[in-house]
Formats: sequence, C-alpha cells, structure tokens
Amino acid sequence: MSAAQHVVPLARPVLGEAEEQAVLEVLRSGQLSLGPRVPAFEEAFAARLGVAHASAVSSGTAGLHLALRAAGVTDGDEVVTSPFSFVASANSCLFERARPVFADIDPLTLNLDPQAAAAAVTGRTTALLPVHIFGYPADLPAFEALGLPIVEDACEALGAVHADGTPVGGRGHPAVFGFYANKQLTTGEGGMLTTSSAAVKEQVDSERNQGRAPDMGWLDHDRLGFNYRLSDVACAIGIAQLERLDGMLEGRARVAARYRDALAGIEGLTLPCEDAGGDRRGWFVFVVQVPAGGPARDEVVLGLRDHGIQSKPYLPAIHLMSFYRERFGHREGEFPVCEDIAARSVALPFFPEMTDAQVERVATALRAVLEPA
Ligand SMILES: Cc1ncc(COP(=O)(O)O)c(C=O)c1O
Repeated sequence: MSAAQHVVPLARPVLGEAEEQAVLEVLRSGQLSLGPRVPAFEEAFAARLGVAHASAVSSGTAGLHLALRAAGVTDGDEVVTSPFSFVASANSCLFERARPVFADIDPLTLNLDPQAAAAAVTGRTTALLPVHIFGYPADLPAFEALGLPIVEDACEALGAVHADGTPVGGRGHPAVFGFYANKQLTTGEGGMLTTSSAAVKEQVDSERNQGRAPDMGWLDHDRLGFNYRLSDVACAIGIAQLERLDGMLEGRARVAARYRDALAGIEGLTLPCEDAGGDRRGWFVFVVQVPAGGPARDEVVLGLRDHGIQSKPYLPAIHLMSFYRERFGHREGEFPVCEDIAARSVALPFFPEMTDAQVERVATALRAVLEPA
C-alpha cells in the first residue's frame, strides 16, 4: 500500500447532526432510560414496517432470546435453523436449553433451504428460526406451510421486502432486527422485535424489564425477566437514523451496483445473488465467494490487507465452531453447501457513503490478489 492511500474500512455508520442533536436533547432532559424515546422509536419502527407492534431491546441477540421464549421454546425442544448465520441465532436457542437443529442452505440465496428444514423437523421441533442472511428474504411462505411457530432472525435484513410486498419483519411472526454499528440502522448496540401479537408485545416488554408488568410498582415482578432494555439515548439515535433510513439504504444499493460492475469478469468469483421472483434484498454486506481452486479465502483476506483493504471471513459455519463441535459432535460433511460457501466467503468494505473510487480500489486489489500477473 502506498503511503498516500488510506485504508478502506469494512464498515462505517452514517451519523450526523441529527443524531448529535437527538442525543443532546436526551441528556438535557435528564431521562436517560425508560423515558418517552422508547415508545416513540418503537411506534415509528412499527409504522415503517406496517406491523402492529415493536419492542426495543438491548441487542439483536436479546431480541432473539425473548422471541424464542414468546414462541414457547423451552427445555429439550428443537429449533430448526441455519448453520450459515451469525452465531447468535443458534446460541439464542441454547439460552432456553433448546437444541438448535441445523439444516443445509440454498446455494443461491444462502438462506435456510425449506426442504432441508422440513426434513429436519421431528416430534420435538417447536419452532423454525429462519435467518434472512445478508439481507436477502428467507422463503417465509415455504416455512409457513410447515405449520410450526416461526421466529425470524431479521438482524441483517432491514429494508428487505418479500415478493408479496410485505417488508421483512412485517409478516406477524416475532422478527428481530439488530442495530450494531455495521447495520443498516444503528444505535451503537440495540435491536427491535416486531410482532402482530399484542400478547407477545406484552410478554416481551415485561421480560426485557426484569419481568415487570406496565402497571406494577418499581420493585414488583410477577415473572422471570432480564435487563434487555434499550436506553433513551440509543432510542433517540434510532429515531434520527430511521428518518434517514431511505437514503442510507439507497446508498448501500448504489455501492452494491457499483461493485457488480467493478467485479464483473473475475473468473470464478461469485457475487451476491440478484433479486429474484419479486423478493428484494435490504443491502447489509457485500459478500463474495472466492473461486474454488484459486487462492484460499484467508490468503485473499491477507492479500487485500496488503493493499490497504479491510475484509473479513464472513460467515464461518456455526456447526463447525469448536463450541458446537464439542457440545453436539458436529463434523465436516454434515451440511456440504453451507461448508463450501462458508469456506470461500469474504465480506468486502461496504457502507452507504463508500465512493466509486473506493469501490474501484477494492476491485483492483481483489483482481490483483485473485489473478496475479
Ligand atoms: C444474523 C444475525 N443474527 C443475530 C445477530 C445478533 O445481533 P446483536 O449483535 O445485535 O446481538 C446478528 C448481528 O450481528 C446477525 O447478523
């Protein structure tokens, strides 16, 4: 890398005066938590998705935990889910002593394959946990046809839309979004659970707040709960981010289109699948699969680093992580599609304000690493 070239970062949030102002207002109000920004953020988010209810939570992981509890998942149950996800989707089943049962993924969309999921259902299966991976809508109609409770991991999928026009997270099942700093919308850390059910909303709101009902006294708790609250500071940032969400999503879509042009023609390189059948991706990351038989993915990551480009192996297969191998005896070969994709996947720099010149730099570097002269 030449001294004049700055590192191209993997991700960078869009934050500006609106967020600064929103945070200052909360600080000046003195109400840092359990204040009015929480319901204001929830209502704006629910309205955006056209869903009846939303509950702000401290992280996507916390939301998944509460969503599985709301779906009735408990001790000894099985939850069918994707091995090609961030580890939190599978871990959240373990929080309730349920077993995440993996099924292989679709090689194109990289989402849980409904047929493979159906084959993994047993008498102990109490829920399905599809993940809208990399913001591409999972095939919800196919999962709904299996007739089991569904919890959607929509942590990567804000802005995605199903073929029937329903926004991802708007079908009524408990669906969970994540607001970590690399997400389409960020509150630093945070998450949102959407649902069409008033009873689920009531349970989630209570359990995120130590098991307290809205009409109860400060230290009165009628069920087990957690501290999964999102602060008013975070919710204020969320409200400001929601107002600029369309622009940020457009920015990501623009960068993705630029990447498609810039990376065209690199032999064997697989780009994220195009929208098909009316489903629309909510762009979160730009993940490519390096060619089979070319330089190994980890070498590509190191090669890009030498060109001043940040990139990351993304995602590793969950069932092959040491904790899952040791706990459940998983081994290579169980989910061949997932394992092949996971071994070749690399996330390239991707954020709404990425310039065309930065995309070109990444593409040139990737070409040089994959096709050395
Ligand atoms: C698919 C998926 N599930 C769950 C999570 C967990 O979200 P959080 O980091 O907000 O707990 C993430 C976030 O990285 C994710 O990408």
